Amino acid sequence: MSRETILVVDFGSQYSQLIARRVRELQVHSELLPCTVGAAQIRAARPRGIILSGGPDSVYDDGAPRLDPEIYGLGLPVLGICYGMQLMAHQLRGRVERSARREYGPSNLEVRGASKLFAGLPERQRVWMSHGDAILEAPGGFRVLARSTNSECAAFADEARRLYGIQFHPEVVHTTHGRDLLRNFLIGVCGCSGSWKMSSFIDESVAAIRARVGEGRVIAGLSGGVDSSVMAVLVGRAIGDRLTCLFIDSGLLRQREADEVVEAFDRKFHLPVRPIDATARFMDALRDVTDPEDKRRIIGRVFVEVFEAEASRLEGAGFLAQGTLYPDLIESTAFKGPSAVIKTHHNVGGLPAGMTLKLVEPLRELFKDEVRRLGRELGLDESLLMRHPFPGPGLAVRILGEVTRERCDLLRRADDIFISELRAAGLYGEVAQAFAVLLPIKTVGVMGDYRTYENVVALRAVTTDDFMTADWARLPADFLAKVSARIVNEVRGVNRVVYDISSKPPSTIEWE
Ligand code: XMP
Repeated sequence: MSRETILVVDFGSQYSQLIARRVRELQVHSELLPCTVGAAQIRAARPRGIILSGGPDSVYDDGAPRLDPEIYGLGLPVLGICYGMQLMAHQLRGRVERSARREYGPSNLEVRGASKLFAGLPERQRVWMSHGDAILEAPGGFRVLARSTNSECAAFADEARRLYGIQFHPEVVHTTHGRDLLRNFLIGVCGCSGSWKMSSFIDESVAAIRARVGEGRVIAGLSGGVDSSVMAVLVGRAIGDRLTCLFIDSGLLRQREADEVVEAFDRKFHLPVRPIDATARFMDALRDVTDPEDKRRIIGRVFVEVFEAEASRLEGAGFLAQGTLYPDLIESTAFKGPSAVIKTHHNVGGLPAGMTLKLVEPLRELFKDEVRRLGRELGLDESLLMRHPFPGPGLAVRILGEVTRERCDLLRRADDIFISELRAAGLYGEVAQAFAVLLPIKTVGVMGDYRTYENVVALRAVTTDDFMTADWARLPADFLAKVSARIVNEVRGVNRVVYDISSKPPSTIEWE
């Protein structure tokens, strides 16, 4: 294949995906690989160049990840970033010093002498640092290209061997010329042309899926969310009706969701979707369960059981297609860094243990917004692509206390009012996620001449870019008043509506 690829080797930095994405933004195809990758695999992929990411370790830590040293000798350009640079220095026999304190934040870079990496860039520039170890001496054959406020060796190179290292992060926006530097590496050093596009991604994926699946059959779990929908349409484009989509209705979905998904896929993409109504099984399994983590585990288990049972009924399915994105992927590997598990995330269509299906994961290199762009190219409806995220365990984590059919119905109606009013007011796209929550308490109210003792619904709407932190949305008071009045008037069993004004942290977006 004549495709120009840059391989990003991931040493566990929180920025690894961002590097791959910046490369794509410069219109060069990129792929992330775990740092355990060997020289043979790299050679086989025939990349134009390699970028070594940063990572949380010190090269002196026990078990600190290493690069297969043969990779330096493949004759390919290599750019080491932060830990990637220190590792390069360490493995090629420079001197790296372990420092007790990590160093974060902005720094001033001073470029010394000409190099392909800094070609056309100003002599002084702002860069973003985040490192522990420092390089005292570049390896033999290397030359120092720049120094910074705190390091004498903030960039180095052996230009004859096309090996480069930088101590700072070119992928973050705080590094003012980071993009230009990456472009210099990709175009100037690696000789890429910069002509890759999202439409090329579709052609390449279709070819790759056909090559992998051959004459086989594929099953996929459809959740109605963006990732699984885009994945299904892409796989459908590659193999047509040899793809069977299973849509499990857990009874924990939003209003009309099940019908809409089945309809949309059938009508627009002619992809047959097999709906499975498993409401009774989920409700049985959730009886008397109130603990949030128990709910997640039970729902995860029942999903797998139902999926497995249906899948085993399909003759000859050898593959399971999943809408896994790179961030999902990294969570399930050994290289997740120090982030603690706050909630057990469960995504529909997880690979059932012991199932012998081979995986097809065509989105594994992409970011969420890239998946949306891809979906747009594939012709998916805007309303589906711009839909707020919905958690795998569905309404179960929005019904505090026990989950029953009745409480699901009640919450669905309240949520539907909130969401349709948001759309009508043009506010849906202004918030990243919005939903209603059903609380496990009753309060006293008065309706007409009667005292009532009924449920409380909380409304939650947040703004966020990455869902890691979030702020509560400042929705107009008149708008909230309208939603509150409609819910209390139209949803029997609710006599009070409250609005959640907590940010994340310290709260989370969902209530459970
Ligand atoms: P939290 O509540 O942790 O949510 O602030 C962050 C984002 O993740 C979604 N979320 C989940 N998604 N399975 C999922 O697939 C889950 O178990 C789950 N829990 C939370 C949440 O809706 C928000 O977008």
